[in-house]
Amino acid sequence: MNKDLPLRALGTSTLMVSAPSFGAMRLSTAGRPDRSTARQVLRAALDAGVTMIDTSDAYGLDSADCGHNEYLIAETLCDAGNPDWVLVATKGGVKRPGGAWEPDGRPEAIRSACENSLRRLRTETLGLYYLQKPDSRVPIEDSVGALADLRRAGKVRFVGLSNVSLNQLQAAMAEVTVTAVQNRFSVLYQVDLDNGTIPFCARNDIAYVVANPVGGRNRNHLIPRVPVIAEIAARLGATPHAVALSWLCSISDNTIPLIGATRLESLLDGLSSTHLQMSPNETAAIRAMSG
Ligand SMILES: NC(=O)c1ccc[n+]([C@@H]2O[C@H](COP(=O)([O-])OP(=O)(O)OC[C@H]3O[C@@H](n4cnc5c(N)ncnc54)[C@H](OP(=O)(O)O)[C@@H]3O)[C@@H](O)[C@H]2O)c1
Repeated sequence: MNKDLPLRALGTSTLMVSAPSFGAMRLSTAGRPDRSTARQVLRAALDAGVTMIDTSDAYGLDSADCGHNEYLIAETLCDAGNPDWVLVATKGGVKRPGGAWEPDGRPEAIRSACENSLRRLRTETLGLYYLQKPDSRVPIEDSVGALADLRRAGKVRFVGLSNVSLNQLQAAMAEVTVTAVQNRFSVLYQVDLDNGTIPFCARNDIAYVVANPVGGRNRNHLIPRVPVIAEIAARLGATPHAVALSWLCSISDNTIPLIGATRLESLLDGLSSTHLQMSPNETAAIRAMSG
C-alpha cells in the first residue's frame, strides 16, 4: 500500500482511514461508466492508498439493480487479493422503486438489507454500516435499534448514520455508539458547520464523513466559478476541485471527504489535494462564503 495519504481516526473505533477516502456511488448510478472503467477507477483508488470505500445496497439504477455497487467492489477487492487494510462502509434503509430514493427504516427491512450486503460483499461482518436516511414513518430509535441488534449479533462492527440532523443524531446516540455521521457538505453547502453538527461530532469522537464533497454530479461545475476558490487555486497552482477538498480536511480533525469520481483524472486530482497548504486566512475566506 502507498502510505502517502494522510490517515484519520474513524471515531472511537480505533481504525484509521485515509482522508480523503473513496465514494463508489457514481460507478453504479445513472451516467455510470462501463464495468471495466469502474473497476479501473476503484483499483486506482486502492493503489493510491485509499483505505475506506463507501457504498450502499441502494447504489444501482433501480430496485432490480440494487447491489450493483457492492458486487463491483467485492469483485475488485477479490482481484486485488482482498487487502485487509480496506474498510468497506455500506448502508441500508433506502429502496429504489423506479429509480427513486425512498427511505425504508423498518427494522425488518434493515435486517434484510444487512443480510444482502453481507452476501454481496462476501463477508461475515460489515466493517461500518450506516442507516442511509431516517424514515419519517419509523421512529429513529427503532431503525437504530435494529443496527444495535445487528452489532450485538456480530454482523456489523461499527454503526453510522447518514442524512441526519443534530436532533436525530442525539436521539440515536441513546441507542447505540455512533462511529460516523455521513452528510452532504461542501464549500457550496456549509450547513453542518452553520448548525453545529460537525463540531458536535468532533466533541463526541464521531467521524464526519463528507458526501457530495465537491457538490456532486450536478453542481461541481460551480466550484471553479467561486472567486475565492479560483484565487486560492491560482496561488497554489492547483485545481479548484482540489482546493475545495483540501478545505474540507482543514476545517476539523474529524472530517473525511469521499471523492466521487468516475474518471481516473478526477480521482488523481482529488488525491492531490492532500499536498495543498492553505493559509488560515484562506480557509477563513472560504468559510465566510456561507451566510
Ligand atoms: N449518504 C448519502 O445519502 C450520499 C449522498 C451522496 C453521496 N454519497 C457518498 O458520497 C460519495 C461522493 O459523492 P458524489 O459522488 O456526489 O461526490 P462529488 O465528488 O461531490 O461529485 C462527483 C462529481 O464531481 C466530479 N468530480 C469529483 N472530483 C473532481 C475533480 N477533482 N475534478 C473534476 N471533477 C471532479 C465527478 O466527475 P467525474 O465523474 O467526471 O469523475 C462527478 O461528476 C458518493 O460516492 C457516496 O459514496 C452519499
